[in-house]
Amino acid sequence: MVIMLDSASLAAIENAIDYYPIEGVTTNPSILEKEGDVPFWEHLESIREVLGRWRSLHVQVVSTSYEEIVKEAELIRRRLGEETYVKIPVTKDGIKAIKHLSHESFHITATAIYNEFQALMALLSGAEYLALYFNRMENNSVDPCAVISSLRKYTDEYGKGKILGASFKNVAQVLSALRSGAHAVTIAPEIISSGLSSSLVENAVLDFRKSWENVHKEKGLLDL
Ligand code: G3P
Repeated sequence: MVIMLDSASLAAIENAIDYYPIEGVTTNPSILEKEGDVPFWEHLESIREVLGRWRSLHVQVVSTSYEEIVKEAELIRRRLGEETYVKIPVTKDGIKAIKHLSHESFHITATAIYNEFQALMALLSGAEYLALYFNRMENNSVDPCAVISSLRKYTDEYGKGKILGASFKNVAQVLSALRSGAHAVTIAPEIISSGLSSSLVENAVLDFRKSWENVHKEKGLLDL
């Protein structure tokens, strides 16, 4: 099971990999837009550096035609390293590009997946990760959990492909995706924070602290 961060904020990425078991970062043009007019390549190079070599970086193409997608993928790989995952939306041209680039040993994350058929086409074309848009599926009356569990049977049989749950709006959706068989999830920093903020936990910690102080007064554990 893998957790990635769906963010292009350097500060958020640094903080998340410092505190949490984050194994990668996913970006797309909308996520990058939130950072303002930052220099594209320099910003991604900085993210790459912060991540180190073993955490994965997923960078999306912008063009929509097969030829341009391939050219952009080549540039992404040249600029950011061959271990970078090129995110390609699963359109007709996208599928052709995935087929071609996977034969050229590119790492591909198929994205903008709203249904099982798109996911299947991307899987059979050689995509390593299949980024399923959980919340957007729900908004379009598609049951993302049913899609994930069905797709998991295909990836298990095929022995390739990993389901990457994406587009989450809350922790419950993240957990449902994992329970349904997603191999990985990519989550915005604020969802991680919301999943960990609980007055119950905070009160429990305060109570433990009070119990300690009742016995040891101002002395800490290290003072004993
Ligand atoms: O990783 C895909 C994701 O960023 C799309 O999420 O919130 O735009 O539906 P959202």
